[in-house]
Amino acid sequence: MKLLIDTDPGVDDALAILMAHAHADVVAMTIAAGNVGLRHTVANALKLVEVLDVDTPVHPGCEQPLVLPAADAAFVHGADGFGDTGYDAPQRLASGEHAALAILRLSHEHAGELTLIALGPLTNLALALRLDPTLPGRIKRLLIMGGAVNGRGNTHRVPAEFNIGFDPEAAHVVFSGWPMVELIDWEATMRHGLDYAELEHWLSADTAEAGFYAAISRRTRTWALEHGRKRLLSADALAMAVALDPGIVSEAEERHVGIELAGSLTRGATVVDWDDRMGRPANARIILAVDQARFESLVRSGLDRTTRK
Ligand code: BDR
Ligand code: CA
Repeated sequence: MKLLIDTDPGVDDALAILMAHAHADVVAMTIAAGNVGLRHTVANALKLVEVLDVDTPVHPGCEQPLVLPAADAAFVHGADGFGDTGYDAPQRLASGEHAALAILRLSHEHAGELTLIALGPLTNLALALRLDPTLPGRIKRLLIMGGAVNGRGNTHRVPAEFNIGFDPEAAHVVFSGWPMVELIDWEATMRHGLDYAELEHWLSADTAEAGFYAAISRRTRTWALEHGRKRLLSADALAMAVALDPGIVSEAEERHVGIELAGSLTRGATVVDWDDRMGRPANARIILAVDQARFESLVRSGLDRTTRK
């Protein structure tokens, strides 16, 4: 599988990126601002490339959402987005090609073959789509981690999930311009948490990936426990599992999804037309449930390739 990852690393992005490199040919990572500022998300992606000892190109994208500024998620991921461990700065260099342009170029070079997965705000992808609206015709699958399909989000604007809420205009461009996306939302994430003790066991593997991830995730694991979360929620890892193993999905529904741009309490909400009241064609395959054991085995093999099936 050829994979292009648009991402804002971010602790759960990191886990997804480790999983991807264990199971797919990652052609590039294009980087968004989101969890923290672009300077950090680019550095974090480069650091992962170094830890993995691979040559995956890293393309910096937009520093800001398309229209309005947005607050980051440093309170969860740490000021540097990777748990403030003070890791040595990566020696690898980022590409000089902008993320949106890299998405377009790669879509031509691998026409019809690329699985594109967006793990952060959709700013880069919206820009690419505005530059070239024929982009979807060259992409095999587009998966998006984002949204809260029944209005139970994870931001202070209650129905909004972080990635969509950070840049609602970008999400609107993508959802209104892409014929069919696969959506892994926050509510599915809540139904597919990871057991802390089990994760801790996987993190004890004697690999560079497990060691690095154990360090950068320590702070978020503590934060989650302190906030009463019974299991560790890793949205981007769940989305990546669906990308890597489509057969993992046990329940999904196709519906029309629109993005709320204006509401004072609801800006950034993903509005799902569950009962087809608007009569608009479905534009999203909403993933509702996956095989938990298969999900966990993909996470584990991302941390320790010797467990790969
Ligand atoms: C999403 O928001 C980010 O904080 C995570 O990395 C994930 O992509 C979950 O709402
Ligand atoms: Ca993310």
